[in-house]
Amino acid sequence: MKKMAIKIKATGGYAPSKIMTNDDFSKIMDTNDEWIRTRTGIKRRHIAENETSFDMAYHAALDAITKSGYDKNKIDLIVVASITSHVKTPSIANLIQAKLGLNDKNIVAFDINAACSGFVYALEIASSMIATNNYKSALVIGSEHMSSIIDWEDRQTAILFGDAAGAAIIEASDNEKDEVFFYNGSRGDDTGILWIDPKVKMAGREVYKFAVDIMPKAISKVLEKANLTINDIDVIIPHQANYRIIQSVAKDMELPIERFLMNLEEYGNTSAASIPFLLDEHKTHNKKSQKALLIGFGGGFTWGAAIINI
Ligand code: UT7
Repeated sequence: MKKMAIKIKATGGYAPSKIMTNDDFSKIMDTNDEWIRTRTGIKRRHIAENETSFDMAYHAALDAITKSGYDKNKIDLIVVASITSHVKTPSIANLIQAKLGLNDKNIVAFDINAACSGFVYALEIASSMIATNNYKSALVIGSEHMSSIIDWEDRQTAILFGDAAGAAIIEASDNEKDEVFFYNGSRGDDTGILWIDPKVKMAGREVYKFAVDIMPKAISKVLEKANLTINDIDVIIPHQANYRIIQSVAKDMELPIERFLMNLEEYGNTSAASIPFLLDEHKTHNKKSQKALLIGFGGGFTWGAAIINI
């Protein structure tokens, strides 16, 4: 079978400017900064006031294009991971195509729902489509307006989430060293442990147990597929749900916590946006080529693990 060798050509990110602190929450519900910080590691989150997931996705895409000087006319595939679109159709990807002025091009554009694992799922879909040689350049985005689906009466879930978007543009690489590997999967939650109907409902402890169980397993599976060890990985980019979850994974894998990138203190859990947004933040400070391991988990339940050169 043909190897999937993929290169990330550009990354972009966007977070709305309005910040909501833990103290802001304690003014509207029975909670406090100390509880939120010690149970989750979150101090602040950014909240969209007049923007939709589409608006944020567009800002992130534009950021990727402008920062890298990428020729947007090369894009022939747009995949957006989101569970918070303001309309059911057109997809966010369709709207991005129009707003980027690419309606005259024959582009395939669609959204996917794999909750917080969405970006890693979208990356596998886009990589596979590029590997068929039918597509040359994919814009892959994770964008979430979580504050639009929060139950503002539920202190256990409301404090966790924030709004943001992250984007990556990928192309095929002729270097075999750029081969990408995935270990994505799902375990159907038909009992309502983590549902959005229409607001977020969650049995937090159950989700926590799922996360700390699946993350080390998915990491070891994707490493096995790539025939690598964790020592071959330069940077680990985990889904930003809870500091304690990441701490538990680090302990399980006998790794220092510093090996795991984090920005949840500032942005909270931004669902499908968390991995690409953090990836872009990292690339802004670190231009050199690195081998990254992306690891996400979320509603569905779903998980996504990828090894990719960034
Ligand atoms: O992207 C995937 C999305 N979801 C997740 O990643 C969530 C995974 N789960 C978690 O991160 C944790 O389970 C939470 C942070 C949601 C909750 O932490 P916990 O340590 O599991 O707390 P708990 O739900 O067992 O609640 C402990 C206590 C309870 O009070 P009692 O019954 O012991 O008196 C809660 O009512 O903390 C109380 N509590 C709060 N207190 C102050 C729950 N939420 C709050 C709050 N402020 N915001």
